[in-house]
Amino acid sequence: MSNYHIKNLEEYFQVYRKSVREPEKFWQEIAEEHFVWRKKWDNVLSWDFSKPEVKWFENAKLNITENCIDRHLLTKGEKTAIIWEPNDPKEKALHLTYSELHKKVNKVANVLKSKGVKKGDKVGIYLPMIPELAYVVLACARIGAVHSVVFAGFSASALATRTVDADCKILITADGSYRGEKTIDLKGIVDKALEDCPEVNSVLVVKRTGSNINIKDGRDEWLEPLMKNASEDCAPEIMDAEDPLFILYTSGSTGKPKGMLHTTAGYMVYSAYTFKNIFNYNNDDVYWCTADIGWITGHSYILYGPLANGATTVMFEGVPSYPDFGRFWEIIEKHKVNQFYTAPTAIRALAKKDLEFVTKHDLSSLKVLGTVGEPINEEAWHWYDNNIGKNKSPIVDTWWQTETGGIMISPIPFATPTKPTFATLPFPGIQPVLMDEEGNEIKGNQVDGRLCIKYPWPSMARTIYGNHDRYRETYFSTFENMYFTGDGALRDEVGYYRITGRVDDVIIVSGHNLGTAPIEDAINEHPAVAESAVVGFPHDVKGNALYGFIILKEFGESRDRDNLRKEIKQTISDKIGPIAKPDKIQFVEGLPKTRSGKIMRRILRKIASGDTSDLGDTSTLLNPEVVEEIINGAL
Ligand code: PRX
Repeated sequence: MSNYHIKNLEEYFQVYRKSVREPEKFWQEIAEEHFVWRKKWDNVLSWDFSKPEVKWFENAKLNITENCIDRHLLTKGEKTAIIWEPNDPKEKALHLTYSELHKKVNKVANVLKSKGVKKGDKVGIYLPMIPELAYVVLACARIGAVHSVVFAGFSASALATRTVDADCKILITADGSYRGEKTIDLKGIVDKALEDCPEVNSVLVVKRTGSNINIKDGRDEWLEPLMKNASEDCAPEIMDAEDPLFILYTSGSTGKPKGMLHTTAGYMVYSAYTFKNIFNYNNDDVYWCTADIGWITGHSYILYGPLANGATTVMFEGVPSYPDFGRFWEIIEKHKVNQFYTAPTAIRALAKKDLEFVTKHDLSSLKVLGTVGEPINEEAWHWYDNNIGKNKSPIVDTWWQTETGGIMISPIPFATPTKPTFATLPFPGIQPVLMDEEGNEIKGNQVDGRLCIKYPWPSMARTIYGNHDRYRETYFSTFENMYFTGDGALRDEVGYYRITGRVDDVIIVSGHNLGTAPIEDAINEHPAVAESAVVGFPHDVKGNALYGFIILKEFGESRDRDNLRKEIKQTISDKIGPIAKPDKIQFVEGLPKTRSGKIMRRILRKIASGDTSDLGDTSTLLNPEVVEEIINGAL
């Protein structure tokens, strides 16, 4: 019997040891006992990190929606699968049972089929957090189409790049979306994006806001009438274990966003097993993850992980500040949420508000609290523990990435003693190591280094869609035979891990992973800009904020600086999205560069964070004189 549900620390160590000593046997038992297969695998794992190539459960046949929906119908058909909480608390929440979800998903699956979507086709999804988003994602999986969800806060240009890169010919969107008091013209953004996506010939539109939108003849259709006429039955497509399930984009430090490709069986097994243990999900619990399904957190821990366990999962359309800063706590009280999973940036923002927003709500249903997306600072951790968990709900600080598909390092509640700011111990099956810059493993405790994983796990991304070389280069070339995470970490005296942050040029702002290169590219598109460099600096709510150093072209010098700042921010907003707008923009004469022409970001980071006491070694700078000038003009 595999230990599917770990209950105490001793059991954790026992399970962990087994997962490392006999990884194949370990995963085989979990896969066999807790999932339904049309055909079992011939081989549990084959791998070669030098290529890199990883295959789990080779030649097994399955459909993930059979595991997430059909198999629950007999015993849990009337159980609520999804509670959908709308943006406006006056609108009624939706409680959707597993059997209703089954019908909706099948209907959408049949609509997609009628539009010619087949196994292996890529489907673009640009939807707000409405129930149809869940139906469409699962409908793709039902028929073997590969979903590519783009967060509906991204700009037209970001949507276009991702739609083209993923080879989508069909896009599912909505007429508009609600975010707090705002109504967003989603379809307008889509129309603009599609000017640059000649391959997209079909757009299905969900009616949400009832806004007046443009319907392009022969291309655009409303989803609802198509669903009405579609059958509620749709046999699941039988997929191979390694068939692609989805593409999801994440920013890189350079170049265009990376379409991480995840496959079917390993992703299913890992997201389900981690969900069960890390949130200590028990029958009849109500679980809520506040992420958007446009991010990996939503894929794995709003949809696939919870549904594979037959859980009740909450989907929230709105924002934590609407109609007031008590909304999260009101929802917990209303739906009697047992497990609550959010991001440090949300905790920090809400901790700044009057405590009465919290205390007027009954939070006694809570059993486990989670955080994800960036390091959580000590103050926020204690605020969460004291005021939300009332010091009785363990906090699981979960470290993972879009690339890893599931949570990698995290306490297991009621088993692993928690420690503020520490993600603590690796999940069973995960073998983390710390490496020094020369490529040697740093053994022992009380050390820090670059965080790598030395053995495959089932839900790791298999490639970057359309660019396997970049996949190898980014993750498997820095250290031989290791997956390099891009994060730094330390290991304390008992072996607990604390993630210290990115060691590359990715900056995490309010939990969003932003590459500096695409932001700089956007800034440089402004006609008055000659060159730019963007770095992060600490911010007490966002974690990090962006600071742009910009050299103007000669004719730009005479322009009004405030207007220029506004225009540049607008350019960034149009190209990437409002989240990528810098808090500060400083116009400079030059940027500190090495003799090989590389911008010395280390120095800019120090200046941006107001810490210029020790700039370190500047002897290799080509133009040391600019440093003084930048310090003097710092904002
Ligand atoms: O730097 C780490 C940080 O977020 C990065 C991954 O971002 P993304 O792919 O967008 O996925 C976010 C949600 C899984 C990581 O490389 N990160 C994520 N969780 C934590 C974290 N940093 C510290 N502590 C965490 N718990």
